[in-house]
Amino acid sequence: MFYDRGRELEKLNEVYSYPGSSFIVIYGRRRVGKTTLVREFLKDKLALYFFVGEKDEALLLEEWSREVEERLSSHLPPYVKPKFGSLEELMEFLLDFSRERTLVVVFDEFQNFRTVKPSFFSSLQRLWDEKKNSSNVMLIAVGSYVGMIKRIFMGKKEPLFGRVDEWIKLKPFDFWTAWGFVRSLVDIDSRHFVELYSALGGMPRYLLYIPRYYRGNSIDAVKGLFFDEFAPLREEGLNILKLEFGRFYRSYFSILEAVSLGRVTPKEISDKTGLKPLTVGKYLSELTNHYEYLTKEVPVTENPLKTRKVAYRISDEFFNFWFRFIYHNYTALEENPERVFERFKAEFPAFVGETYERIAREFVKKQDLGFKPERVGRWWHKGEEIDVVAYDRENIALFEVKWKSLSLKDVKSILKALDRKAQLLPLRGHYKLGIIAREFEDKEGLREEGFLAFDLDDLIR
Ligand SMILES: Nc1ncnc2c1ncn2[C@@H]1O[C@H](COP(=O)(O)OP(=O)(O)OP(=O)(O)O)[C@@H](O)[C@H]1O
Ligand SMILES: [Mg+2]
Repeated sequence: MFYDRGRELEKLNEVYSYPGSSFIVIYGRRRVGKTTLVREFLKDKLALYFFVGEKDEALLLEEWSREVEERLSSHLPPYVKPKFGSLEELMEFLLDFSRERTLVVVFDEFQNFRTVKPSFFSSLQRLWDEKKNSSNVMLIAVGSYVGMIKRIFMGKKEPLFGRVDEWIKLKPFDFWTAWGFVRSLVDIDSRHFVELYSALGGMPRYLLYIPRYYRGNSIDAVKGLFFDEFAPLREEGLNILKLEFGRFYRSYFSILEAVSLGRVTPKEISDKTGLKPLTVGKYLSELTNHYEYLTKEVPVTENPLKTRKVAYRISDEFFNFWFRFIYHNYTALEENPERVFERFKAEFPAFVGETYERIAREFVKKQDLGFKPERVGRWWHKGEEIDVVAYDRENIALFEVKWKSLSLKDVKSILKALDRKAQLLPLRGHYKLGIIAREFEDKEGLREEGFLAFDLDDLIR
């Protein structure tokens, strides 16, 4: 069953309706659903799907000729049997074929041309420049290794630089889409879902494990997925990222590990990894801007371009979990898996709490607070922290977020502490205080007193 991706399909259909040729790149990390999206888009169209396996050019052409014959035969004279001596010949044929009608051509795992035939990039460029204006090809290059795809199309010296008309970065499902997807597959309560989401994130492929591994207990499901001997996701992070980073993966890995353990400033990361500050700076910038595995955060009241107060976090829930609990314990997992699992169980609630904070911030962005916030984010200064701050020119809403079940007394003391922290903020205006917890007593009473109060039932609706 195909789920969601309405915006991406809409964009693709829009481009499809343009006259002439277009070059589209769909990229996103492995398992995010690129192939599935493209297949869905191709369903009712005249289209060719080519998977660029790491094989000989001749073998690929043999496979692809069959695809051409199958899809296009009704448009070709009966005596023509497609046969191509090179990738260039194939490409030229497709460009010429589409003079008369629109044709979609997909190359999945496009980056593999680097090993199949690196010179194809420049011959593709030549053919494309020469023929695109007289043909109607929608050329879609799908790529899994974000860094490599960017290099191929954005590297100033690369032949295909500047040829792409549209970029689609495919992201994991957001929390609410993931919840809808999983609920359509299996009966699961919202609390368990938040716990599993903390480990799996919004990757459709990983979410599809839930119906098989979830038997009413999320901790057991995580154990089966990550910690058991044949756990399907135990090696997953390594398999994906090693290919992405290539030869120098160790330094990238140690930085990601440090960040997952809560070392979030360049200084802390340098201290933890033993890498020189200059090196850390370079890697952090690559991991953030080029590979997009890290996100840089600043206190919500600061100007991101000017402030030096930065904190990094791993953008993807799955990688965050994997580095924190699996990679960090690699050796121990071999030697004493039971102990690693016991420690994991003790630390997991706090970890879920951090995910819940991020979900809460996304929730606040969509919520009617009586004003439309211009910025929503975390705030911190000298050891003080506020989980969610939302503000415009006149209004400020502050929230404390707890992944716990709270009594009214707990909530009151949390709100009191929040009131004190409010004084530290460099913002003037009308303040509202709020609590977002898993559950708590007397939600209605708190709202009547003028507090903003939301529990998991509100968040997940
Ligand atoms: N929109 C979707 N609805 C339902 N299931 C999906 C969706 N997208 C992906 N999936 C499922 O997730 C799995 C992984 O998706 P897919 O193979 O398309 O990802 P990919 O990005 O092409 O990954 P890879 O890099 O491994 O090729 C598939 O088995 C598919 O069933
Ligand atoms: Mg794929």
